[in-house]
Amino acid sequence: MDRNAPVGVFDSGVGGLTVVREIIRQIPGERIVYFGDTARLPYGSKSRDTVIRYSRQIIRFLMTMKVKAIVVACNTASAYALETIQAETELPVIGVINAGARTAVHATRNGKIGVIGTEGTIGSGIYTEVMQRMKADIEVFGKSCPLFVPLVEEGLLHDSVTDEIASRYLSVLKGRYIDTLVLGCTHYPLLRSTIRRLMGDEVTLVNPAYETAVELRELLAARNLSREEKEPLLGEQYQFFVSDLAEKFTDFATAILPGEVKETRQISIEEY
Ligand code: DGL
Repeated sequence: MDRNAPVGVFDSGVGGLTVVREIIRQIPGERIVYFGDTARLPYGSKSRDTVIRYSRQIIRFLMTMKVKAIVVACNTASAYALETIQAETELPVIGVINAGARTAVHATRNGKIGVIGTEGTIGSGIYTEVMQRMKADIEVFGKSCPLFVPLVEEGLLHDSVTDEIASRYLSVLKGRYIDTLVLGCTHYPLLRSTIRRLMGDEVTLVNPAYETAVELRELLAARNLSREEKEPLLGEQYQFFVSDLAEKFTDFATAILPGEVKETRQISIEEY
């Protein structure tokens, strides 16, 4: 496998860019091919079978881009499809859930952890399962927050409407005396300051994107696949693909990532 090959990263839309941002921060030498399934978002309210079918198509597309490893930068796809695609793909594939769960289990002092995510992620019970496998007596309280994704997509990151909705969702978790809260959806780190204010400083917020980038760095190093920053770049460093509305994605990506995103290409993902 070529060390200069890109890492493939995918999400249902723009949210996975929070993971890309961490990868760029921690391993700036890597090339990245990102796919955002903007035509078929949200994944959070879809069935397991549908999310697996979509994920398989995206993996086939990423393979045509000759990636050396794949990051499933979507909690819902990690919850529903990670095991299936790991079993079917020869490349190393990592998701965001193990990383987030591990950080939360290390961070908690009272053993009470909250997880917020899409209906799919929370309904799957995957965070509870993974965390209790790591430490059996951990108590996990899940809460789906379905309106957070559209609020972020609309750019309402600091808005009274967002405050009101967040306060309704989070009040359930406040009553559980959690000391750690996993932001178990790619979009939620963008609402961090609202969530921080409502939960208070005593609750540790865990962003799985950070740990996922650490896991990717370690995985590439262990397999001798890390690209050195000083090696000559063969091909573009960052490439972005979506299944709908490339321009909207470009604006969002430019707002989130360091540096301007010049181009996003639209592809027909159903053909893969
Ligand atoms: N990317 C999804 C996740 O992290 C959120 C958006 C969606 O529902 O598709 O679960």
